[in-house]
Amino acid sequence: MKSLYVRLVVTFAAIVFCSGVLGFLLANWYYQQHLKTYNEQKIAAIGKEIVALYEEHSDGDVHNYLKRIGNMNFQLYLFDETGKAEAFGAPFREQEIDHGIVERVLHGETYRGIAEEKHGLFVTGFFQNTLKNSIGLPLHAQGKTYAMFVRPNLEGQFGEVHILFAVLLIAAFFLSILFILVFTRYLVKPLKTLTKATKKIAEGDYSLRLDISRKDEIGTLASHFEQMTKALKQLEEMRQEFVSNVSHEIQSPLTSIQGFTQAIRTGEVTEEQRQAYLAIIEEESRRLSSLSKQLLTLASLEKETELFEPTRYRLDEQIRQVLLLLERQWSEKRLNIELSLPETAVMADEQLLNQVWINLLTNSIKFTEPGGTIFISIHTEKEHMAVVVKDTGIGIAGSDLPYIFDRFYKGDKARTRNRSGSGLGLAITKKIVQKSGAAIEVESQAGVGTTFTVRLPLEVRSKGYDGK
Ligand SMILES: Nc1ncnc2c1ncn2[C@@H]1O[C@H](COP(=O)(O)OP(=O)(O)OP(=O)(O)O)[C@@H](O)[C@H]1O
Ligand SMILES: [Mg+2]
Repeated sequence: MKSLYVRLVVTFAAIVFCSGVLGFLLANWYYQQHLKTYNEQKIAAIGKEIVALYEEHSDGDVHNYLKRIGNMNFQLYLFDETGKAEAFGAPFREQEIDHGIVERVLHGETYRGIAEEKHGLFVTGFFQNTLKNSIGLPLHAQGKTYAMFVRPNLEGQFGEVHILFAVLLIAAFFLSILFILVFTRYLVKPLKTLTKATKKIAEGDYSLRLDISRKDEIGTLASHFEQMTKALKQLEEMRQEFVSNVSHEIQSPLTSIQGFTQAIRTGEVTEEQRQAYLAIIEEESRRLSSLSKQLLTLASLEKETELFEPTRYRLDEQIRQVLLLLERQWSEKRLNIELSLPETAVMADEQLLNQVWINLLTNSIKFTEPGGTIFISIHTEKEHMAVVVKDTGIGIAGSDLPYIFDRFYKGDKARTRNRSGSGLGLAITKKIVQKSGAAIEVESQAGVGTTFTVRLPLEVRSKGYDGK
């Protein structure tokens, strides 16, 4: 596989080459279209001057005269009436010319070879050093008529310019290639860096820093790439933390179960102790089972494909049902329950919302001292329907408040007071609330109580509900 670098260099070099060829063709075309006539006229005028100069002033040897003209960097060819030819100045590369042309010039016509001659697309006529590409004029000398063909000896006149042009072209070509080689490397380098970075990330190393400070698309790509790496790093850290939390949550009940079973099996325990140990084992197993259920719920909520299935149902009744379900727990703690549940219908996923009320109410029950009160109310706001769960419990410290919806987060007080939670309840609640297009808010004051407000969007409420 060719590398991007090689591809770019080859492409750029091809572009330079093609531009050169096309530029040459264009210049040739321009010469043929616009410059040729002008050039021809110029040379014809010079030719006429040569003839006039001879005819007016010098009556001497025409051969000698033309030799001097030839020395002034002109290429000349002289035919006499018999067709005998003689060259002066630098010789023409091609010396063929139709006999008819010579005849015509001998008869007084001017031959305009520069304008008439058809040149190939690739030959700049301007430089074509042939007899055909010249101006033919009649010349009268010592009673004889000659046909004189003349062309400036470009080589002699502009030889240095030629070399200059050649140097310019070759230098331009090689310099472009050199610059292409250097700048393509500069273009491709960040891509190489990025490729290395992706490889590193694939190997699990997120610690990379890209020192690409460019402001172009590649710079944007690099900065997005860095952001992505940060996000991936965070995700990876979260994953590791999650795994270690899960392991920890599983480990502690298992250790306790192991310890007590061993004690019962090997140690000498009284019947009373045995009962107590068995109760602990039962409780720990229940905890494990609830933990695995919570993890499953969380996993299924994480899956984007999980369908949210709204149905129409009575929200007030649902909350009453949940209270009934939890009756043993709140009545054991002699908690007062105060309700304000007007008949309300919602369009929501009944099962998921059920989980929300269970989580909020178990928290309130768990974190409220015996004799405390739990208020539950439903009321309609401007754009929402609000369900408020308020308790007169231990409250949440301000420093804990931002984290209570995080997975496995348990307030310090909760940890010492009550080990039975895993800290997943509110994380699950938040996920469900988000999925339902609702919002959850908490207000709390340590030692005073906590209020959770869930706001369900109004438009899904009582959609066509018949109230029965
Ligand atoms: N009503 C409340 N009163 C006081 N503190 C609360 C209340 N609700 C939640 N918290 C605090 O928020 C923390 C997180 O609650 P969450 O429901 O996620 O976990 P948990 O109840 O400890 O465990 P789980 O719900 O998984 O059994 C709790 O540990 C507690 O510190
Ligand atoms: Mg809870």
